[in-house]
Amino acid sequence: MAIRKVLVYPDKRLREKARPVDRVDDSIRRLLDDLAETMYAEPGVGLAAPQVGVALRVFVIDLKSPEGGELHEFVNPRFVSREGEVSWKEGCLSFPGISEEVTRAKRVALEALDRNGERFVLEGEDLLAVAMQHEYDHLEGKLLIDHVSFLKKRLIRREMAKLAAERGAAAGAEVR
Ligand code: NI
Repeated sequence: MAIRKVLVYPDKRLREKARPVDRVDDSIRRLLDDLAETMYAEPGVGLAAPQVGVALRVFVIDLKSPEGGELHEFVNPRFVSREGEVSWKEGCLSFPGISEEVTRAKRVALEALDRNGERFVLEGEDLLAVAMQHEYDHLEGKLLIDHVSFLKKRLIRREMAKLAAERGAAAGAEVR
């Protein structure tokens, strides 16, 4: 297992539409392991493959993160139902320090393949439903910032530019 680097907005790779996985093999199992390890290390409650620069339809969720315990792994997920409405304050590892209220379906069911290539359906409500929809968005190249008002978009872009400048300065200081 390895901790991978999480891409931060506005990295263009976050906007790519991810491809379906052809076969769930050892390389996909390694990707799932790395995603989980990276999610626990950050820590976050979910992480999608495009966030580590891999354009495949794979993500992990663990609401008990950072301690871990209830790891859900999804390969080639698709929604089989979405019902109701709920608003939740969401964060994203690709938007460090940002949290925004987003309205999504309150209950969803996702059909996906597990790490053995077996089909399963997972139903989720509230935070689990929110996380499933948030991570699924990443596979479509859709991001937290796409769910907020025009004004908030501007604020988030400004915050992220400031963060990038700070990170650039810190990286520069390290090489000196
Ligand atoms: Ni995210």
